[in-house]
Amino acid sequence: MGPSILTQLIAAPPRDALARPLHDLRISVIDRCNFRCPYCMPEDQYAQDYQFLSKDERLRFEEIERMARAFVALGVRKLRLTGGEPLLRRDLPQLVRMLAAIPGVDDLAMTTNGVLLPKFAQALRDAGLKRLTVSLDTLDPETFRKLSGGRGEVAEVLDGIAAAERAGFERIKLNCVVMRGVNDAQVLDLLERFRGTGHIVRFIEYMDVGTVNRWRGELVVPSAELAARIGARWMIEPLQPNYRGEVAERYRYADGSGEIGFISSVSHPFCGDCARARLSADGKLYTCLFARSGYDLRTPLREGVNDAELTALIAARWAARADRYSEQRAELRARGEHKHIEMFAVGG
Ligand code: GTP
Ligand code: 5AD
Ligand code: SF4
Ligand code: SF4
Repeated sequence: MGPSILTQLIAAPPRDALARPLHDLRISVIDRCNFRCPYCMPEDQYAQDYQFLSKDERLRFEEIERMARAFVALGVRKLRLTGGEPLLRRDLPQLVRMLAAIPGVDDLAMTTNGVLLPKFAQALRDAGLKRLTVSLDTLDPETFRKLSGGRGEVAEVLDGIAAAERAGFERIKLNCVVMRGVNDAQVLDLLERFRGTGHIVRFIEYMDVGTVNRWRGELVVPSAELAARIGARWMIEPLQPNYRGEVAERYRYADGSGEIGFISSVSHPFCGDCARARLSADGKLYTCLFARSGYDLRTPLREGVNDAELTALIAARWAARADRYSEQRAELRARGEHKHIEMFAVGG
Protein backbone atom coordinates (compact mmCIF):
# COMPACT_ATOMS: atom_id res chain seq x y z
CA MET A 1 0.00 0.00 0.00
CA GLY A 2 1.53 3.34 -0.99
CA PRO A 3 1.24 6.82 0.35
CA SER A 4 -1.44 7.59 -2.22
CA ILE A 5 -3.95 5.69 -0.07
CA LEU A 6 -3.00 7.86 2.88
CA THR A 7 -3.42 10.96 0.77
CA GLN A 8 -6.85 9.75 -0.30
CA LEU A 9 -7.89 9.05 3.29
CA ILE A 10 -6.76 12.48 4.40
CA ALA A 11 -8.63 14.13 1.52
CA ALA A 12 -11.84 12.21 2.23
CA PRO A 13 -11.93 11.22 5.90
CA PRO A 14 -14.18 8.26 6.66
CA ARG A 15 -17.75 8.48 7.89
CA ASP A 16 -19.14 5.60 9.88
CA ALA A 17 -22.17 3.51 8.87
CA LEU A 18 -24.43 6.22 10.31
CA ALA A 19 -22.54 9.01 8.49
CA ARG A 20 -20.78 10.22 11.62
CA PRO A 21 -17.27 11.64 11.20
CA LEU A 22 -14.34 10.96 13.51
CA HIS A 23 -13.38 14.02 15.56
CA ASP A 24 -12.37 13.04 19.08
CA LEU A 25 -9.97 10.47 20.36
CA ARG A 26 -10.00 9.52 24.02
CA ILE A 27 -6.75 7.82 24.94
CA SER A 28 -6.61 5.67 28.06
CA VAL A 29 -3.02 5.55 29.29
CA ILE A 30 -3.49 3.10 32.16
CA ASP A 31 -6.27 0.89 33.51
CA ARG A 32 -5.27 1.23 37.15
CA CYS A 33 -6.80 3.67 39.58
CA ASN A 34 -6.12 4.88 43.11
CA PHE A 35 -9.90 5.14 43.74
CA ARG A 36 -12.58 2.47 43.77
CA CYS A 37 -15.68 4.45 42.83
CA PRO A 38 -18.74 2.20 43.24
CA TYR A 39 -20.12 3.28 39.85
CA CYS A 40 -16.92 2.29 38.07
CA MET A 41 -14.77 -0.30 39.87
CA PRO A 42 -16.46 -1.19 43.16
CA GLU A 43 -13.99 -2.81 45.50
CA ASP A 44 -16.15 -5.82 46.35
CA GLN A 45 -17.32 -6.49 42.82
CA TYR A 46 -14.65 -6.16 40.23
CA ALA A 47 -12.94 -9.51 40.20
CA GLN A 48 -10.29 -9.56 42.90
CA ASP A 49 -8.08 -11.46 40.50
CA TYR A 50 -8.62 -8.86 37.79
CA GLN A 51 -5.42 -8.65 35.82
CA PHE A 52 -4.48 -5.05 35.16
CA LEU A 53 -2.35 -4.55 32.11
CA SER A 54 1.36 -5.14 32.47
CA LYS A 55 3.91 -2.63 31.29
CA ASP A 56 4.58 -4.62 28.12
CA GLU A 57 0.92 -4.83 27.30
CA ARG A 58 0.48 -1.07 27.53
CA LEU A 59 1.37 1.04 24.56
CA ARG A 60 4.62 2.94 24.96
CA PHE A 61 4.51 6.71 24.50
CA GLU A 62 6.00 6.45 21.00
CA GLU A 63 3.29 3.96 20.08
CA ILE A 64 0.53 6.21 21.45
CA GLU A 65 1.97 9.08 19.48
CA ARG A 66 1.96 7.07 16.25
CA MET A 67 -1.61 6.01 16.86
CA ALA A 68 -2.62 9.60 17.56
CA ARG A 69 -1.02 10.78 14.32
CA ALA A 70 -2.95 8.16 12.39
CA PHE A 71 -6.22 9.29 13.96
CA VAL A 72 -5.40 12.92 13.27
CA ALA A 73 -4.86 12.03 9.62
CA LEU A 74 -8.46 10.78 9.63
CA GLY A 75 -9.94 13.97 11.03
CA VAL A 76 -9.40 13.84 14.79
CA ARG A 77 -8.79 17.32 16.19
CA LYS A 78 -9.33 16.73 19.85
CA LEU A 79 -7.44 14.40 22.15
CA ARG A 80 -8.37 13.57 25.72
CA LEU A 81 -6.20 11.54 28.07
CA THR A 82 -8.02 9.25 30.46
CA GLY A 83 -7.38 6.19 32.63
CA GLY A 84 -8.18 4.55 35.05
CA GLU A 85 -6.35 7.43 36.62
CA PRO A 86 -4.06 8.88 33.96
CA LEU A 87 -1.68 10.49 36.44
CA LEU A 88 -0.66 7.05 37.68
CA ARG A 89 1.16 6.60 34.39
CA ARG A 90 4.80 7.52 34.83
CA ASP A 91 6.10 10.63 33.09
CA LEU A 92 2.70 11.58 31.72
CA PRO A 93 3.75 15.20 31.01
CA GLN A 94 6.24 13.77 28.53
CA LEU A 95 3.38 12.16 26.58
CA VAL A 96 1.45 15.43 26.73
CA ARG A 97 4.43 17.19 25.18
CA MET A 98 4.60 14.63 22.36
CA LEU A 99 0.88 14.86 21.61
CA ALA A 100 0.78 18.66 21.81
CA ALA A 101 3.41 18.77 19.07
CA ILE A 102 1.29 16.87 16.53
CA PRO A 103 0.13 19.23 13.79
CA GLY A 104 -3.67 19.28 13.60
CA VAL A 105 -4.31 18.71 17.31
CA ASP A 106 -6.42 21.73 18.27
CA ASP A 107 -7.46 20.57 21.69
CA LEU A 108 -5.67 18.48 24.28
CA ALA A 109 -7.47 17.68 27.52
CA MET A 110 -7.35 15.24 30.41
CA THR A 111 -9.91 13.71 32.78
CA THR A 112 -8.52 12.93 36.25
CA ASN A 113 -9.73 12.29 39.78
CA GLY A 114 -7.52 15.19 40.84
CA VAL A 115 -5.58 13.83 43.81
CA LEU A 116 -2.24 13.85 42.02
CA LEU A 117 -2.65 17.34 40.57
CA PRO A 118 -0.63 19.09 43.31
CA LYS A 119 2.31 17.06 42.04
CA PHE A 120 1.71 17.31 38.30
CA ALA A 121 -0.47 20.30 37.37
CA GLN A 122 2.38 22.66 36.54
CA ALA A 123 4.31 20.10 34.51
CA LEU A 124 1.17 19.21 32.55
CA ARG A 125 0.49 22.86 31.81
CA ASP A 126 4.09 23.47 30.76
CA ALA A 127 3.93 20.43 28.49
CA GLY A 128 0.96 21.87 26.61
CA LEU A 129 -2.16 20.42 28.22
CA LYS A 130 -4.94 22.85 27.36
CA ARG A 131 -7.90 21.76 29.45
CA LEU A 132 -8.61 19.80 32.56
CA THR A 133 -11.64 17.88 33.81
CA VAL A 134 -11.69 16.75 37.43
CA SER A 135 -14.18 14.22 38.81
CA LEU A 136 -15.86 15.55 41.96
CA ASP A 137 -19.10 13.94 43.08
CA THR A 138 -19.70 15.71 46.37
CA LEU A 139 -18.17 18.12 48.88
CA ASP A 140 -19.39 16.12 51.82
CA PRO A 141 -16.35 14.30 53.30
CA GLU A 142 -18.27 11.21 54.37
CA THR A 143 -20.07 10.77 51.04
CA PHE A 144 -16.83 11.43 49.21
CA ARG A 145 -15.11 8.63 51.09
CA LYS A 146 -17.92 6.30 50.12
CA LEU A 147 -17.80 7.38 46.46
CA SER A 148 -14.05 6.91 46.22
CA GLY A 149 -14.27 3.47 47.77
CA GLY A 150 -12.54 4.69 50.92
CA ARG A 151 -9.44 5.68 48.98
CA GLY A 152 -9.70 9.45 48.83
CA GLU A 153 -10.50 12.62 50.75
CA VAL A 154 -12.42 15.49 49.22
CA ALA A 155 -9.81 17.91 50.63
CA GLU A 156 -7.18 16.27 48.41
CA VAL A 157 -9.24 16.88 45.31
CA LEU A 158 -9.87 20.50 46.31
CA ASP A 159 -6.11 20.89 46.77
CA GLY A 160 -5.67 19.43 43.31
CA ILE A 161 -8.09 21.93 41.81
CA ALA A 162 -6.29 24.78 43.57
CA ALA A 163 -2.96 23.53 42.20
CA ALA A 164 -4.43 23.43 38.71
CA GLU A 165 -5.64 27.01 39.09
CA ARG A 166 -2.18 28.13 40.17
CA ALA A 167 -0.70 26.35 37.15
CA GLY A 168 -2.95 28.42 34.89
CA PHE A 169 -5.88 26.13 34.12
CA GLU A 170 -9.13 28.07 33.83
CA ARG A 171 -12.70 26.96 33.28
CA ILE A 172 -11.92 23.56 34.77
CA LYS A 173 -14.76 21.10 34.27
CA LEU A 174 -15.91 19.30 37.40
CA ASN A 175 -17.73 16.06 36.67
CA CYS A 176 -20.28 14.85 39.18
CA VAL A 177 -21.92 11.46 38.69
CA VAL A 178 -25.30 11.76 40.36
CA MET A 179 -26.83 8.75 42.13
CA ARG A 180 -30.23 8.93 43.75
CA GLY A 181 -30.09 8.65 47.52
CA VAL A 182 -26.29 8.79 47.48
CA ASN A 183 -25.17 12.30 46.52
CA ASP A 184 -28.15 13.91 44.81
CA ALA A 185 -29.05 15.92 47.90
CA GLN A 186 -25.63 17.58 47.76
CA VAL A 187 -25.61 19.02 44.26
CA LEU A 188 -26.64 22.50 45.34
CA ASP A 189 -23.69 22.68 47.75
CA LEU A 190 -21.37 21.70 44.93
CA LEU A 191 -22.79 24.42 42.71
CA GLU A 192 -22.66 27.00 45.49
CA ARG A 193 -18.96 26.30 46.02
CA PHE A 194 -18.03 26.83 42.37
CA ARG A 195 -20.44 29.57 41.33
CA GLY A 196 -18.47 32.58 40.26
CA THR A 197 -15.12 30.75 39.98
CA GLY A 198 -15.25 30.29 36.22
CA HIS A 199 -15.22 26.49 36.63
CA ILE A 200 -18.02 24.41 35.15
CA VAL A 201 -19.81 21.81 37.23
CA ARG A 202 -21.37 19.07 35.09
CA PHE A 203 -23.82 16.48 36.27
CA ILE A 204 -23.57 13.05 34.68
CA GLU A 205 -26.47 10.63 34.78
CA TYR A 206 -25.36 7.38 36.34
CA MET A 207 -24.75 4.98 33.43
CA ASP A 208 -24.82 1.20 33.04
CA VAL A 209 -21.25 1.01 31.82
CA GLY A 210 -19.16 -2.08 32.46
CA THR A 211 -20.42 -5.16 34.21
CA VAL A 212 -19.69 -4.61 37.87
CA ASN A 213 -21.50 -1.53 39.11
CA ARG A 214 -24.97 -2.99 39.84
CA TRP A 215 -26.66 -0.23 37.85
CA ARG A 216 -30.40 0.12 38.28
CA GLY A 217 -32.61 2.62 36.53
CA GLU A 218 -34.03 3.87 39.85
CA LEU A 219 -30.60 5.19 40.82
CA VAL A 220 -30.52 7.57 37.85
CA VAL A 221 -31.61 11.13 38.51
CA PRO A 222 -32.77 12.41 35.12
CA SER A 223 -31.19 15.73 34.21
CA ALA A 224 -34.61 17.36 33.80
CA GLU A 225 -35.40 16.59 37.43
CA LEU A 226 -32.05 17.89 38.56
CA ALA A 227 -32.36 21.04 36.48
CA ALA A 228 -35.76 21.71 38.05
CA ARG A 229 -34.28 21.37 41.54
CA ILE A 230 -31.42 23.69 40.64
CA GLY A 231 -33.80 26.11 38.94
CA ALA A 232 -35.79 26.42 42.14
CA ARG A 233 -32.69 27.85 43.80
CA TRP A 234 -31.08 29.89 41.00
CA MET A 235 -32.47 31.00 37.69
CA ILE A 236 -30.66 29.08 34.90
CA GLU A 237 -31.03 29.32 31.12
CA PRO A 238 -29.87 27.08 28.26
CA LEU A 239 -26.86 27.92 26.10
CA GLN A 240 -26.04 26.83 22.55
CA PRO A 241 -23.62 23.89 22.21
CA ASN A 242 -19.95 24.79 21.72
CA TYR A 243 -19.74 22.28 18.91
CA ARG A 244 -21.91 19.73 17.17
CA GLY A 245 -22.19 16.54 19.16
CA GLU A 246 -21.14 18.11 22.45
CA VAL A 247 -21.75 15.63 25.25
CA ALA A 248 -22.98 18.12 27.83
CA GLU A 249 -26.02 20.35 27.52
CA ARG A 250 -24.93 23.76 28.69
CA TYR A 251 -26.75 26.17 30.97
CA ARG A 252 -25.77 29.42 32.62
CA TYR A 253 -26.85 31.23 35.71
CA ALA A 254 -29.05 34.13 34.69
CA ASP A 255 -27.13 36.35 37.13
CA GLY A 256 -23.91 35.81 35.16
CA SER A 257 -22.09 33.73 37.76
CA GLY A 258 -21.12 30.99 35.35
CA GLU A 259 -21.97 27.86 33.46
CA ILE A 260 -23.15 24.37 34.39
CA GLY A 261 -23.72 21.26 32.28
CA PHE A 262 -25.79 18.11 32.14
CA ILE A 263 -24.64 14.86 30.55
CA SER A 264 -27.81 12.89 29.99
CA SER A 265 -26.76 9.72 28.29
CA VAL A 266 -29.67 7.80 29.85
CA SER A 267 -32.61 10.21 29.58
CA HIS A 268 -31.48 11.97 26.42
CA PRO A 269 -28.94 9.95 24.39
CA PHE A 270 -26.61 11.78 22.05
CA CYS A 271 -25.40 8.96 19.78
CA GLY A 272 -26.63 10.69 16.64
CA ASP A 273 -23.65 13.04 16.62
CA CYS A 274 -21.13 10.84 18.39
CA ALA A 275 -17.75 11.37 16.77
CA ARG A 276 -15.70 9.79 19.56
CA ALA A 277 -13.24 6.93 19.31
CA ARG A 278 -11.54 5.39 22.32
CA LEU A 279 -8.11 3.82 22.46
CA SER A 280 -7.44 1.56 25.44
CA ALA A 281 -4.07 1.43 27.15
CA ASP A 282 -3.32 -1.85 25.36
CA GLY A 283 -4.00 -0.36 21.97
CA LYS A 284 -7.52 -1.53 21.21
CA LEU A 285 -9.90 0.74 19.35
CA TYR A 286 -13.38 0.96 20.86
CA THR A 287 -16.02 2.60 18.74
CA CYS A 288 -18.44 3.03 21.66
CA LEU A 289 -18.23 3.43 25.43
CA PHE A 290 -20.54 0.43 25.59
CA ALA A 291 -18.72 -1.74 23.08
CA ARG A 292 -18.32 -5.40 23.92
CA SER A 293 -14.89 -5.67 22.44
CA GLY A 294 -12.18 -3.60 20.90
CA TYR A 295 -10.23 -3.83 17.69
CA ASP A 296 -6.60 -4.67 18.23
CA LEU A 297 -4.27 -2.09 16.74
CA ARG A 298 -1.25 -2.96 18.87
CA THR A 299 -0.48 -6.22 17.11
CA PRO A 300 -0.22 -4.72 13.62
CA LEU A 301 1.67 -1.77 15.06
CA ARG A 302 4.23 -4.03 16.71
CA GLU A 303 4.41 -6.19 13.61
CA GLY A 304 5.63 -3.16 11.76
CA VAL A 305 2.82 -1.71 9.68
CA ASN A 306 3.63 1.64 8.14
CA ASP A 307 1.64 4.82 8.80
CA ALA A 308 -0.53 4.45 5.71
CA GLU A 309 -1.46 0.89 6.65
CA LEU A 310 -2.22 1.85 10.24
CA THR A 311 -4.41 4.71 9.08
CA ALA A 312 -6.22 2.45 6.63
CA LEU A 313 -6.95 -0.11 9.37
CA ILE A 314 -8.50 2.56 11.56
CA ALA A 315 -10.46 4.02 8.66
CA ALA A 316 -11.89 0.62 7.77
CA ARG A 317 -12.95 -0.03 11.35
CA TRP A 318 -14.55 3.41 11.62
CA ALA A 319 -16.39 2.95 8.33
CA ALA A 320 -17.99 -0.22 9.73
CA ARG A 321 -19.11 1.46 12.97
CA ALA A 322 -22.84 1.37 13.73
CA ASP A 323 -22.80 1.70 17.55
CA ARG A 324 -25.53 3.67 19.27
CA TYR A 325 -25.92 1.90 22.56
CA SER A 326 -27.54 4.68 24.56
CA GLU A 327 -30.31 5.00 22.00
CA GLN A 328 -30.89 1.24 22.08
CA ARG A 329 -30.36 0.74 25.79
CA ALA A 330 -33.83 -0.54 26.63
CA GLU A 331 -34.03 -3.12 23.86
CA LEU A 332 -30.43 -4.29 24.25
CA ARG A 333 -30.80 -4.68 28.01
CA ALA A 334 -34.06 -6.56 27.52
CA ARG A 335 -32.16 -8.96 25.27
CA GLY A 336 -29.42 -9.30 27.88
CA GLU A 337 -26.91 -7.63 25.59
CA HIS A 338 -25.24 -5.34 28.05
CA LYS A 339 -21.91 -6.91 28.76
CA HIS A 340 -19.48 -4.21 27.86
CA ILE A 341 -15.93 -3.12 28.46
CA GLU A 342 -15.27 -1.74 31.95
CA MET A 343 -15.29 2.02 32.35
CA PHE A 344 -11.82 2.05 33.90
CA ALA A 345 -10.42 0.28 30.85
CA VAL A 346 -11.68 2.89 28.38
CA GLY A 347 -11.72 5.93 30.63
CA GLY A 348 -15.30 7.11 30.27
P1 GTP B 1 -15.46 18.26 26.58
O1 GTP B 1 -14.32 18.07 25.67
O2 GTP B 1 -15.13 19.27 27.61
O3 GTP B 1 -16.76 18.46 25.91
O4 GTP B 1 -15.47 16.92 27.43
P2 GTP B 1 -16.29 15.61 27.40
O5 GTP B 1 -17.59 15.90 28.04
O6 GTP B 1 -16.28 14.95 26.08
O7 GTP B 1 -15.33 14.71 28.32
P3 GTP B 1 -15.47 14.11 29.73
O8 GTP B 1 -14.41 13.10 29.94
O9 GTP B 1 -15.54 15.17 30.75
O10 GTP B 1 -16.88 13.37 29.60
C1 GTP B 1 -17.72 13.41 30.64
C2 GTP B 1 -18.41 12.10 30.84
O11 GTP B 1 -19.45 12.00 29.89
C3 GTP B 1 -17.56 10.88 30.58
O12 GTP B 1 -16.79 10.56 31.66
C4 GTP B 1 -18.63 9.87 30.34
O13 GTP B 1 -19.13 9.50 31.59
C5 GTP B 1 -19.64 10.68 29.57
N1 GTP B 1 -19.39 10.54 28.14
C6 GTP B 1 -18.42 11.12 27.40
N2 GTP B 1 -18.49 10.73 26.13
C7 GTP B 1 -19.54 9.89 26.07
C8 GTP B 1 -20.11 9.14 25.02
O14 GTP B 1 -19.68 9.18 23.88
N3 GTP B 1 -21.16 8.36 25.34
C9 GTP B 1 -21.66 8.29 26.57
N4 GTP B 1 -22.70 7.51 26.76
N5 GTP B 1 -21.14 8.97 27.59
C10 GTP B 1 -20.10 9.75 27.34
N1 5AD C 1 -21.83 6.53 35.04
C1 5AD C 1 -21.53 7.83 34.73
N2 5AD C 1 -20.30 8.33 34.77
C2 5AD C 1 -19.31 7.53 35.14
N3 5AD C 1 -17.98 7.75 35.29
C3 5AD C 1 -17.41 6.59 35.67
N4 5AD C 1 -18.34 5.61 35.80
C4 5AD C 1 -19.53 6.19 35.48
C5 5AD C 1 -20.86 5.69 35.42
N5 5AD C 1 -21.17 4.43 35.72
C6 5AD C 1 -17.32 9.04 35.07
C7 5AD C 1 -16.48 9.52 36.21
C8 5AD C 1 -15.47 10.39 35.54
C9 5AD C 1 -15.37 9.84 34.18
C10 5AD C 1 -14.05 9.22 33.89
O1 5AD C 1 -16.41 8.89 34.05
O2 5AD C 1 -17.10 10.26 37.17
O3 5AD C 1 -15.85 11.75 35.50
FE1 SF4 D 1 -10.97 5.66 39.13
FE2 SF4 D 1 -12.29 7.41 37.64
FE3 SF4 D 1 -13.16 4.87 37.83
FE4 SF4 D 1 -13.34 6.47 39.94
S1 SF4 D 1 -14.40 6.75 37.95
S2 SF4 D 1 -12.60 4.35 39.96
S3 SF4 D 1 -11.54 7.76 39.74
S4 SF4 D 1 -11.26 5.53 36.92
FE1 SF4 E 1 -21.26 7.36 21.34
FE2 SF4 E 1 -21.72 4.88 22.20
FE3 SF4 E 1 -21.97 7.00 23.84
FE4 SF4 E 1 -23.75 6.59 21.89
S1 SF4 E 1 -23.40 5.27 23.65
S2 SF4 E 1 -22.80 8.53 22.45
S3 SF4 E 1 -22.42 5.77 20.28
S4 SF4 E 1 -20.08 6.26 22.88
